[in-house]
Amino acid sequence: MWLLEPCGLVWHSDWGIKVYLARACILAGMDASRRPLIGGNWKMHGDGAEAIALARSLRSWDGVAEMVIFPPAVYLSIVADELGDCAVTVGGQDIAQEAQGAFTGQTSADMLLDCGCTWTLVGHSERRHGMGETSAQCDAKVQQALNAGLNVMLCVGETLDERDAGQATKVVRDQVEQSLGGLKSLDPMRLAVAYEPVWAIGTGQTATADDAQTMHCALREMLAGRYDASSATRTRVLYGGSVKPANAAALLACPDIDGALVGGASLNADSFLPIASAAETWKASS
Ligand code: PGA
Repeated sequence: MWLLEPCGLVWHSDWGIKVYLARACILAGMDASRRPLIGGNWKMHGDGAEAIALARSLRSWDGVAEMVIFPPAVYLSIVADELGDCAVTVGGQDIAQEAQGAFTGQTSADMLLDCGCTWTLVGHSERRHGMGETSAQCDAKVQQALNAGLNVMLCVGETLDERDAGQATKVVRDQVEQSLGGLKSLDPMRLAVAYEPVWAIGTGQTATADDAQTMHCALREMLAGRYDASSATRTRVLYGGSVKPANAAALLACPDIDGALVGGASLNADSFLPIASAAETWKASS
């Protein structure tokens, strides 16, 4: 019997063979809801005037891809005001795992909503590795965000040592399982996963399109195993790590890469908009 897996593999249960199908196959109706998603993570860059200017330069975006930008927390409101009702939305770079209370320096889900956010990042590698954030904390943050009505972009990814040790898939699997430990059902419209190999973030090194596709396919299988194939097939899995106009089209053309989380290149409309436009290939091939 032939079985279609969400990542585009066709599996024959009697013959024990797996055949990889091209993008066209899984786009044939199954993942029509996977509109490309492009995130711009501004990190701790710029000042208020630059934030407004950058937001203004994105206002006219009306491409195929859904675009969400993640400015520094103190500029969320002014960026959201600048964007108004245009198609670009705003998200937090992080969220507190508690709803409210004596947590100096933290930003709650309600505060993000109040500032006009519709999304939040959870578990970015600079928080996991630079600030010791655990997957258990990410799990609590995912719950806070979703319960409050924010969409979540969960970031996962292995270090170079872990990849060299052949542990990349295991590390990513552990991060997914633990960071979504409390999530009982998967709503593909509310949760996206960003695969960001730590060694590719801000380094200029990018995973090859083949390596990224392999991990994205594995990630979708993990989601299918944990939830169900239909939800996993409709969940957007983004690639992040030194995405630039020069490599975006090749990455976004991969069957299981549904968008990009962009850091450095999102700080300038001249580099960010061409990356978002590269998602037009999705339209062309669907
Ligand atoms: P980069 O950052 O594009 O500068 O590598 C990506 C990210 O941190 O999300």
